[in-house]
Amino acid sequence: ELSPIDKAKFLAAKQATEYVETGMKVGLGTGSTAAWLVQCLGEMVREDGLKIKGVPTSTRTANLARKVGIEVITLDEAKWLDVTIDGTDEYDAKLTLIKGGGGAHLQEKVVATASDRMIVIADASKKVDTLGAFPLPVEVIPFGAKITKRLIEEMLIGMDVLGREVTQRMNGDKPFISDEGNFIFDLHLKRIGNPHQLSLALNQIPGLVENGLFIDICDVVIVGHGDGRVDVRD
Ligand code: A5P
Repeated sequence: ELSPIDKAKFLAAKQATEYVETGMKVGLGTGSTAAWLVQCLGEMVREDGLKIKGVPTSTRTANLARKVGIEVITLDEAKWLDVTIDGTDEYDAKLTLIKGGGGAHLQEKVVATASDRMIVIADASKKVDTLGAFPLPVEVIPFGAKITKRLIEEMLIGMDVLGREVTQRMNGDKPFISDEGNFIFDLHLKRIGNPHQLSLALNQIPGLVENGLFIDICDVVIVGHGDGRVDVRD
């Protein structure tokens, strides 16, 4: 028996499989909600004859996809994707997202941007009026990371945000390392007044590879509820 939150995630994932057809190349997201999607697609491959090629957004997802029977190819082999289905940490009314709670937003953004459509699957707790309660992840190269952190802090002084604390994500007592070999810094902004302006300013900082804001990338959010309802927003 699933908990209400897992049921909500499962229902959103199940509904999202309706966007997937035989012959498609599909971007596979990362996180607990996306893991349900990969499970559902694997079952359709094994039992219903669905034929797809999957492009995973993390090592974790690649391992799960292979395990459930989905053929895995690289993004460059795929060239372009029909659809990417992924979870999120927050979404707002404009379908702007904060992603990267799992530390995979760089690959997730590259994959979603190389897709005709991005479908997000979520439980209702991910909906926010204003983004920023969830700390915004940014991926930073290890070289000069302390300088990069200072440049981020100085840049935030001029931004429409409520909090300005920047912390390095850890894995026990060692820095968390992304699939691309980089650090993740979490920006505790509490409220992001202007996501577009912030995203541009962050990505101007040389040692910062990519931030977790997804702006004008997501086309549809499928929201599952613990009571069995599913909403679709586009
Ligand atoms: C991974 O880097 C994130 O972008 C995930 O999509 C996000 O953390 C959602 O994860 P859950 O589905 O586990 O909430």
